[in-house]
Amino acid sequence: MSTTFTLDTSTSRANPTPAPMKRLTVPAIQSRKVDGVTAQPLVMLTAYTARMAQLLDPHCDMLLVGDSLGQVIYGLPSTVPVSLEMMCAHGAAVVRGSYHSVVIVDMPFGSYEGSPEQAFASAARILKETGAAGVKLEGGEAMAETIAFLTRRGIPVMGHVGLTPQAVNALGGYGARGRSAAEADKIVNDARAVADAGAFAMVIEGVVEPIAIAITEAVACPTIGIGASARCDGQVLVTEDMLGLFERVPRFVKRYADLAGWISEHAASYADEVRQRSFPTSEQTYQPKA
Ligand code: KIV
Repeated sequence: MSTTFTLDTSTSRANPTPAPMKRLTVPAIQSRKVDGVTAQPLVMLTAYTARMAQLLDPHCDMLLVGDSLGQVIYGLPSTVPVSLEMMCAHGAAVVRGSYHSVVIVDMPFGSYEGSPEQAFASAARILKETGAAGVKLEGGEAMAETIAFLTRRGIPVMGHVGLTPQAVNALGGYGARGRSAAEADKIVNDARAVADAGAFAMVIEGVVEPIAIAITEAVACPTIGIGASARCDGQVLVTEDMLGLFERVPRFVKRYADLAGWISEHAASYADEVRQRSFPTSEQTYQPKA
């Protein structure tokens, strides 16, 4: 699938939103943090589909095609089984549905850890097939060489430190990280290594707040928090969590809506009307032309 397919507004149900405009760039995101200060926090949300991208695009600086799509879209138990094919297909859809935000695509587990060369091949495929501006990968010091390899070859990389969900089998769960002094030091050192390697920004996920503040003060690139701190340079949430599509969400999620309840209520109304034959009415029915 190629991003050269743009959204066909004559066949799609969705209108372009907003009107086509110049897209933000990775350097523009980077330059929002000046001398350690980000006057206007960066806004990032996840998107996996063209329509959701259209709806979120006007409100965001970055759209993340997260590998959380494994659980949210595919009902998988973790992000571990997510494939490069899934990321490319959803990444291309999100690029087609957006005009304004920088689109970043997650590198799935197993597509980059083997070697910098493996990471380059996977990242190049993602950028070619989706039209996204950059990739995100998980890991700290151990990934620094790979991040440097990619950035020196023209691939913008967003880091991801703290709770790294692809490592769930090693971590044993999704609890907040950095409760011991040793682990806190390791996470801060990981973040420094990721920044020194050339990451243009980094996600800090699921850490006790002082760690997020220490990293944000220590690194020149913007930090994007999730379960981290309001003092990060920006924030990200999984959109479906934020909109209340799931009953169970982590403590750090604020549910701005109750989409699950809303969908259930309207599906029940539809089911009632079908069973009572009160839908469709003449308004939704075609008649032969007189
Ligand atoms: O996959 C994802 O959605 C993420 C965010 C939670 C940061 O990595």
